[in-house]
Amino acid sequence: MATDPPLTFPSLSSLEEAASAKVPPRIWAYIQGGSGDERALEGNREAFRRWRLRPRVLGDVSTVDLGTTLLGTSVHAPFFVAPTAYQGEIHRDGEVGTARAAAGLGILGIYSTLSSASLETIASAAGAGPRWFQLYLQPEFARSRRLVERAEAAGYRAIVVTADVPVLAVRDRQASGGFAIDASLPLGNGPDVTPPPRGPTRDGARYTLRTEAATTWTILDQLREVTRLPLAVKGILTAEDAREAVRHGAQAIVVSNHGGRQLDAARPSLLALPEIVAAVDGKAEVYLDGGVRRGVDVLIALALGARGVGLGRPVLWALAWGGSDGVGRYLSALGTELATSMALSGRRSIAEIDPSLVEPNPPLHIFT
Ligand SMILES: Cc1cc2nc3c(=O)[nH]c(=O)nc-3n(C[C@H](O)[C@H](O)[C@H](O)COP(=O)(O)O)c2cc1C
Repeated sequence: MATDPPLTFPSLSSLEEAASAKVPPRIWAYIQGGSGDERALEGNREAFRRWRLRPRVLGDVSTVDLGTTLLGTSVHAPFFVAPTAYQGEIHRDGEVGTARAAAGLGILGIYSTLSSASLETIASAAGAGPRWFQLYLQPEFARSRRLVERAEAAGYRAIVVTADVPVLAVRDRQASGGFAIDASLPLGNGPDVTPPPRGPTRDGARYTLRTEAATTWTILDQLREVTRLPLAVKGILTAEDAREAVRHGAQAIVVSNHGGRQLDAARPSLLALPEIVAAVDGKAEVYLDGGVRRGVDVLIALALGARGVGLGRPVLWALAWGGSDGVGRYLSALGTELATSMALSGRRSIAEIDPSLVEPNPPLHIFT
């Protein structure tokens, strides 16, 4: 299990490998795994290579400012911690460690319904730091409502409704690694959360129904009636669904294929981004997650119209590597790399990152 971190933080290139040595194989399979044969997972990274940068020079980049707002929340960087379940299984610091590190740097953290710590405990670790709550809908609406009320009372500033898990995908790597999502995993949010059903086993013969399989867009109208917090919908990959989300009052959209963990062969989120930005036409904020690893990835996504980008696995690697300290060092290193890449491309502020910064790379054979 976790040990005390060595003095030197690994480079962003070596963090993944360094983290793999810190956790048991079943936890590594949980973090890394995608669905099916992991085409969607691979596609997320490949998509970033479809774009390259058009840097400008001699534009006085002696100061670079990463600050922006996400749904009115002031943040020190345009990247945020994406919601990920069961962080307590990865390191004893769990979500409390992640929240402390992100909040200390003024970085937005989104925390999962399936957190190991309670949302109130996470909130106290975050203190005045920016935080949003990710909602997995519960079998009875009263429970979803209760979670939203608790989040509102605990100072979370937006509700992120995850829409791409009506059923749990078949995740071969996770299943064969021995990580079963089931009732035995401790859940911090207590009686308001129904433990997810047992994940599919290696035979993959049946899909596992989650409770929200019957949910439709009207859930956003229902949620609107029970909270004044802004609503974001996470897990959108088409212009059609982006328009539906806006029509039902979503103030933000997270373009995401769930880090390649749900529909395999789903399009990479980065490829979906431009049509969604166009469809939303400024009526909601658009964020992206999936495959964001380096400062230049953040630049590319922002140039293509994302207002913010989420980090899933990299935060978990940092947590595995060194708990709260690891997450803090990782987020700082990414901020430094983003600021450096902005300076090298002649951009002094987030507002200066515009579509002229990117151009398509010659198509890779996999996309032709
Ligand atoms: C281990 C793990 C657990 C996750 N748990 C959740 C979750 O509880 N709720 C959710 O909306 N998304 C969850 N996600 C998806 C992430 O929020 C995000 O969409 C994805 O990880 C982004 O891709 P990346 O890992 O390439 O950065 C999880 C992802 C991982 C890797």
